[in-house]
Amino acid sequence: MPHPTPLPHPSAARAPSGPALRSMTAPAPALRVDGHLSEDRAPSAPASTAAPATRRAAHLSDGVASGGSPGPRQAGASSVPPRPRVMSQPAASGRTTPAQRSGDLSEDARNRKSDKYPLPPLLLVGCGRMGGALLSGWLEQGLPEAVVVEPNAAAAAAWSGRATVVPSAADIPEGFRPQAVVLAIKPQEAAAALPAFGRYAGTGAVFVSIMAGQPVAGIRAALGDASSVVRAMPNTPASVRQGFTVGFAGPGVTAPQRALADRLLGAVGEVAWVDREALIDPVTAVSGGGPAYVFLLAELLEAAAIEQGLDPDLARRLARATVAGSGALLAASAEDSASLRRAVTSPKGTTERALAVLMAPEAWPALLSRAIHAATERSRELAG
Ligand SMILES: NC(=O)c1ccc[n+]([C@@H]2O[C@H](COP(=O)([O-])OP(=O)(O)OC[C@H]3O[C@@H](n4cnc5c(N)ncnc54)[C@H](OP(=O)(O)O)[C@@H]3O)[C@@H](O)[C@H]2O)c1
Repeated sequence: MPHPTPLPHPSAARAPSGPALRSMTAPAPALRVDGHLSEDRAPSAPASTAAPATRRAAHLSDGVASGGSPGPRQAGASSVPPRPRVMSQPAASGRTTPAQRSGDLSEDARNRKSDKYPLPPLLLVGCGRMGGALLSGWLEQGLPEAVVVEPNAAAAAAWSGRATVVPSAADIPEGFRPQAVVLAIKPQEAAAALPAFGRYAGTGAVFVSIMAGQPVAGIRAALGDASSVVRAMPNTPASVRQGFTVGFAGPGVTAPQRALADRLLGAVGEVAWVDREALIDPVTAVSGGGPAYVFLLAELLEAAAIEQGLDPDLARRLARATVAGSGALLAASAEDSASLRRAVTSPKGTTERALAVLMAPEAWPALLSRAIHAATERSRELAG
């Protein structure tokens, strides 16, 4: 995979991948994706909403927290990994599969059909960590034509030759007609930067904002009332095509525009949609910040291992491999996370002893609930 490394710093070189792009002077490909999709006019039902922000101790139902016996060990789970999922997995491209989505088969069918067609011309505003991860995914899917607005010279240099990179909106080639404008700048830069892109609002382009804490209404106010805005919240595993993005389609977003946004976001992992913008706040708390909590777990495991006398290098490797390997097992398994946890919990064993500490009501259940609540509240504050 061309981009297996974690998201780089914006000023660090980001080695792009994918085929060279067509010249900017080449005629823009017809928006076959839209034409094709317009057969289905009715917007599909919203996908499932984000996971609940909080979980109570009562949900951890194997009795470990209360000192009781854990549930029965899962058959075959002690040494044999659970069987691979029977349900279909995301394609190598990171596309969302029907089974992973809302169950709205008509939308899935449309999106699968749209994958046969090249991505339309795109404008990416901001090509830092997250913008770069998205661009890399699109290039991998053969994106033929893109303009990137990126004032950071190091970031711009990393993508030259793969896209037309310009330092400001004023430098976008005259005849360029993007079908999607992806806003991947920092939220604090939005007010100054957005008005320059309002000229694309009347051309049918869909704006896809991944800016945290920037409500659709504010973005539309900056771009103009004619703008169609999708607000989305991705997360950093997007850089290895294992992200999870939740989208919300604002007023006036058409079904083909939403389908295009879904396809763009799906280039780097799974996509789900919510039908209330307020749900983006808990999504931000759970999956947007989630990788940080998991990395913290690796840090704490490492520190605890050192405390128990392990060599620091071994402690670091153990912690990393345990978190990464468990994530990979979870992704590959048909079992839910509680079942996988029970599978490594022998009655009266060492793991059971540790889980009795971690799963005590005042421990992880309460702490995680408070943490997610705090992050959700902060997301609401940022949105104003
Ligand atoms: N990283 C994440 O985990 C994550 C997750 C979900 C959502 N997001 C959202 O994604 C957005 C980007 O985050 P990021 O982590 O990718 O930030 P980043 O690495 O700082 O990237 C932003 C890039 O935009 C450039 N930029 C600044 N002003 C610009 C302008 N007027 N026009 C075009 N480009 C401009 C920046 O250049 P300079 O460096 O020179 O300023 C930088 O290269 C944020 O709104 C964030 O909330 C990020």
